[in-house]
Amino acid sequence: MMDLLIPDKTHDESRQGEALMLNAETAKNNGRKLYIESYGCAMNFSDSEIVASILAERGFETTTDHTLADVIFINTCSIRENAEQRVRNRLKEFTITKVKNPGLVVGVLGCMAERLKSKFLEEEKLVDVVVGPDAYRDLPNLIDKVDDGQKAVNVLLSREETYADISPVRLNSNGINAFVSIMRGCDNMCSFCVVPFTRGRERSRDPLSIEAECRDLFEKGYREVTLLGQNVDSYKWSPTQTLPGREGLEKAENQKVSPTGGDLEGATTNFANLLERIALIDPDLRVRFSTSHPKDITDEVLHTINKYDNICNYIHLPVQSGNSRILDLMNRTYDREWYINRIDAIRRIIPDCAISTDIITGFCSETDEEHKDTVSMMDYVKYDFAYMFKYSERPGTLAAKRYADDIPEEVKQKRLTEIVAKQQEYSFYRMQARIGTVERVLIEGFSKKSDKDYCGRSDQNAMVIFPVGEGYKPGQYVNVLIERSTTATLIGKVIPQTP
Ligand code: 5AD
Ligand code: SF4
Repeated sequence: MMDLLIPDKTHDESRQGEALMLNAETAKNNGRKLYIESYGCAMNFSDSEIVASILAERGFETTTDHTLADVIFINTCSIRENAEQRVRNRLKEFTITKVKNPGLVVGVLGCMAERLKSKFLEEEKLVDVVVGPDAYRDLPNLIDKVDDGQKAVNVLLSREETYADISPVRLNSNGINAFVSIMRGCDNMCSFCVVPFTRGRERSRDPLSIEAECRDLFEKGYREVTLLGQNVDSYKWSPTQTLPGREGLEKAENQKVSPTGGDLEGATTNFANLLERIALIDPDLRVRFSTSHPKDITDEVLHTINKYDNICNYIHLPVQSGNSRILDLMNRTYDREWYINRIDAIRRIIPDCAISTDIITGFCSETDEEHKDTVSMMDYVKYDFAYMFKYSERPGTLAAKRYADDIPEEVKQKRLTEIVAKQQEYSFYRMQARIGTVERVLIEGFSKKSDKDYCGRSDQNAMVIFPVGEGYKPGQYVNVLIERSTTATLIGKVIPQTP
């Protein structure tokens, strides 16, 4: 018999009792090895770093070799059916590891865990633990249950959890770029999207804790942070709002401080204010962010990007479709004209801004004419980059309930092939336009193909390749004169810094 545990989240032990328990547990787990594999969006990769931190506190070490692991976690994505299939295939590969090591704990984290809940345990016998994105603090407890021979599930979603006080363990880090989560969940309810169901209600993280994390990264030598949220433009934090956990709230009420320290007096912080706060940490700390939402991106945000050289001129602004009827069915809450207005605002306020997008082809009832509107939107914007997908119906979403997934697979594929080809043209066009310009590049390391070349990104997020040379190394900025390009890469040489 499987014993499914839905543990409660409140801990009433005294602080001292907690410390003793923590010591005992840390000793028990000392040297146990954790292997984490992440799928899907940047937020999942960032969450895995929070998970590693929670378990490091309890004595676990991370390993990059799953055959050495005592605990294997897969942090999963549900956004499209093929993302879920990839996870299931990967789980099968771990069966052999489990046969060799019967004490191995296998856990599924993230969106698929939240979507399938305890059903996962029935469908995949290998799995011992199923944990949703808001329940990671409970992981040590859940691993204990598995050690005691039970299976364990915690998929409670929270309205408050932001993991604000947890300092992530950087996994697979180059020590130069880091993701920093600024909010969780999504309230938008795009009709095709499973995220509001798997990641819960939108909540913003205390700005002081975000600033402290970014400052700490800078002091450790990091030179670029990417602020992450499903819709960063709806970031909103007011000093009086509920803080993570009852304890944090009580402390803040009593002392008028944030749970991570600092003064909480003052006005509400919006995304423009937050960007400015992070940009002011140091001019050598580059700030990126993702994802922007066309309905919420304000001119104030655009002016802030333009005001600070270290906020990168690059905006990922998913359009999804160029047709107003389809946008309405998608529940995107903007139409074609509104989106074009936002593109025009970006071009006007930030003269040299790269723009990328997400596009879905073959959404329910999309006609050829409506698809052409997406193509003409691409002609209008000439995106620097695009992520393009065929519509994949997700169980439980508004679209799955209301509309038939009625576009034949071949038509979805034909439309996708067409826009992929179109995007290749525009990516190349944008790259070619940089030839002869001088780009400020943050060196990230050797290029993938050769250790005679370095690679790094330009302000506009283009990958730049140039020869390794004396006097500069990863983590430093260099000026690169662009001499040629492919569709995805700029190639050039370093020129002396102008004073
Ligand atoms: N089918 C296809 N693509 C989807 N996306 C989200 N849900 C679906 C779906 N059901 C795409 C959107 C979103 C990106 C992260 O994934 O374009 O912006
Ligand atoms: Fe999904 Fe829309 Fe939220 Fe993005 S904004 S996560 S597409 S519901």
